[in-house]
Amino acid sequence: MNVLIVGGGAREHALTWKALQSPLTDAVYCAPGNAATAAIAVNTGFEATDVDAIVRFVSERDVGLTVIGQEAAVAAGLADRLTAIDRLVFGPSAAAGRIESSKAFAKSVMARAGVATPAYQVFDDAGRAKDFVRGERRAFVVKADGLAQGKGTLMPRDAQDTLECIDTLMLRKTVGAAADRIVLEEKIDGREVSLMALVDGDRVVPLPPACDYKRALDGDKGPNTGGMGGYSPVRFFGPGEVDRAVADVLLPVVQTLRQDGTPYRGCLYAGLMVSPSGIQALEFNARFGDPEAQVVLPRLEDDLIPLLEAAARGALGEARPSWSTRSSVGVVLASRGYPGTYQTGFLIEGLGTIERDVFAFHAGTSAGPSGYETAGGRVLTLVALGDSMGEARDRAYRNINRIRFEGMAFRHDLALREIESAVLQ
Ligand code: GLY
Repeated sequence: MNVLIVGGGAREHALTWKALQSPLTDAVYCAPGNAATAAIAVNTGFEATDVDAIVRFVSERDVGLTVIGQEAAVAAGLADRLTAIDRLVFGPSAAAGRIESSKAFAKSVMARAGVATPAYQVFDDAGRAKDFVRGERRAFVVKADGLAQGKGTLMPRDAQDTLECIDTLMLRKTVGAAADRIVLEEKIDGREVSLMALVDGDRVVPLPPACDYKRALDGDKGPNTGGMGGYSPVRFFGPGEVDRAVADVLLPVVQTLRQDGTPYRGCLYAGLMVSPSGIQALEFNARFGDPEAQVVLPRLEDDLIPLLEAAARGALGEARPSWSTRSSVGVVLASRGYPGTYQTGFLIEGLGTIERDVFAFHAGTSAGPSGYETAGGRVLTLVALGDSMGEARDRAYRNINRIRFEGMAFRHDLALREIESAVLQ
């Protein structure tokens, strides 16, 4: 079977790498892919949102399964167009994908599904939003309603800062029209975890939980980013918590979307907060997480393709994928200055020297005359497996020491809290 992976980041590199291990796979194509997928698969040259070109390509090359990695392609209706020509696609329709592309819609689905989520208000007008905050005199999480590439959620410290954040999103338009509408959400305390699941319209097959690190600097300081790394599994979110989250969060949402006539097929990602009052859902993504996919997929012992195909066909049945008991730690190597301005075009050295069971998933790289060069803010996710979280973390950082590029920036505290929590028990 020919497989097409849609997207061009480290997540799609990981999906491509895993798809190529399948004996069911003939050719693997990427739209657009990146410099590293060009070396192992075939880059089509089409952007992820070039729906017409992708649909034509799928027909011409007889692609048996299209896997949508990127949210913009979901929102652009790629799955709808492929389904209309009877092509199998792993990824939801644009209507079901509104669970990610509209935060207000996600909240309304959660309310109807009876899913616990922090209280919220929706505003289309900055003045009204600010009046509300002035009346409440406390901080709220400020979320752009639409897709904003990880830059649409602001976490102010106090009421004054909340007013600033509303101006940033709605008046200074830092994420454009995505913040024409905003959601103000109650701040809650707890520990965040990402739970992804394969969904076939009806059934939900959870993947191992992962944690990601959104802030740029150690100690969760600095601005929010598209993700600076992650790890899996998660000690505080074991099988009991996963079962509870499936029963109380994922299944009710999937059932509600089915009852709405917009069944969800693909990877459903729940951003959860484990709070003193239980598990609360903060957000949903209509795709694999980045960097969660990079740390979870290397732990999958089974063939990925039949699982994605079954979800796409609406036939997950009793699928129970096998997962390695090993731990994985992924560290994003970024360009100095990211998520602000940064320079590119620097040679990346040492990639050929990394150890076995360590993977360099590319995001912002290009192929230069002497090897890969930096070409984006997030350059690589370096992922290491280990028999313990400590071993995976040591291996990740040991191998980072073998990689060099001008301005290489990364967090030094990945998975540290997980290891420290194990020591305390
Ligand atoms: N790790 C968060 C995301 O994929 O959006």
